[in-house]
Amino acid sequence: MTQRGNVIIKALETAETIRMLNKVYADSWLAYHQYLMEAKVVKGIRKSDVKAKLRQLANDELRHVHMISDRIIELGSTPIDSPSDWTEHTNTGYETSSSFDELSILDLAIKSAEGSVYVYSGLAAMLQNKDIITYELVNEILADEVENEEDLQELYNHIEKS
Ligand SMILES: [Fe+2]
Repeated sequence: MTQRGNVIIKALETAETIRMLNKVYADSWLAYHQYLMEAKVVKGIRKSDVKAKLRQLANDELRHVHMISDRIIELGSTPIDSPSDWTEHTNTGYETSSSFDELSILDLAIKSAEGSVYVYSGLAAMLQNKDIITYELVNEILADEVENEEDLQELYNHIEKS
């Protein structure tokens, strides 16, 4: 491979990393909004526990927004700036619950976290041995998503049994 060839491949890889980061940037904003709103409207006997969990998830998503956008900027680009583009670029989509019932809302949040685990796992595999800084950032977010998914499932099972 010529040096020029290597430079071109590296530039293509960086462009693809930025494209993927923009997609999870959109996911994180949408998830932030979804969790924030769900925490406000949720109803049920254990709603205070569910609200606290959803608020923590929203905080995590906002932190991810910061981490991802900082990295996009470091890579020489700028994050998608228009909220109207988020729904176009998202991996995980935006789904609203038809019910405010705590189990329905938790079920939706679990699906959203599961989707994120899948997306960040794929991203980590793509970045391994290529871009160590972005790889570590993605793994840090992945660890949050895995933990959140487990906590949500535990809360769901606990409420379902009570
Ligand atoms: Fe997320």
